[in-house]
Amino acid sequence: MKKIAVFASGFGSNFEVIAAATESGQIEAEIALLVTDHADCYAVERAHNHHVEVFAFNPKSYPSKADFETEIVAQLRQRDVELIVLAGYMRLIGEVLLNAYPNKIVNIHPALLPAFPGKHAIEQAYNYGVKVFGITIHYVDAGMDTGKIIAQSCFTAKGDETVDEIETKIHALEHTLYPQVIQQLVIC
Ligand code: GAR
Repeated sequence: MKKIAVFASGFGSNFEVIAAATESGQIEAEIALLVTDHADCYAVERAHNHHVEVFAFNPKSYPSKADFETEIVAQLRQRDVELIVLAGYMRLIGEVLLNAYPNKIVNIHPALLPAFPGKHAIEQAYNYGVKVFGITIHYVDAGMDTGKIIAQSCFTAKGDETVDEIETKIHALEHTLYPQVIQQLVIC
């Protein structure tokens, strides 16, 4: 069984659906590790519930990004991780991880890239007044949400939704598409 690692910084709803999909067999892989930069985030509790090991680190306790990424790579190698799945990990990936896992790091973003990269993408799109909302799953490179696109999904807004309602619809798209794409990546 292929080993994957999920990186998350917050609520972890994508972690939850990925974990469930590995358990049901929809994703033919095992989550060997949750990596987080927030030891107290809800994703950690979810990992414990799914008996997934956690590596939590405090970026401020390392001299540089290269230092904490070197430690992350060691944790991943120890567990034979082959694919890194970013799921709400709110940090740019640096050279050390990119070089250790070339074309083996994927991310999900709650907008139709290249529009609205970075943080608060849903609010940015909503405030801009877009009519079509969506999500993007892409390979990770050194830029901010700039890597090669793997898959996208979208819906047309009715026009009277609140930002919270739009966010709920976006998360629903993420929770359907991400497990499907991860399964495609682990079997190829
Ligand atoms: C998701 O909507 C994901 O697309 C977004 O963070 C959320 C995490 O939710 N990622 C980004 O904005 C990356 N630029 P979750 O913690 O409930 O999975």
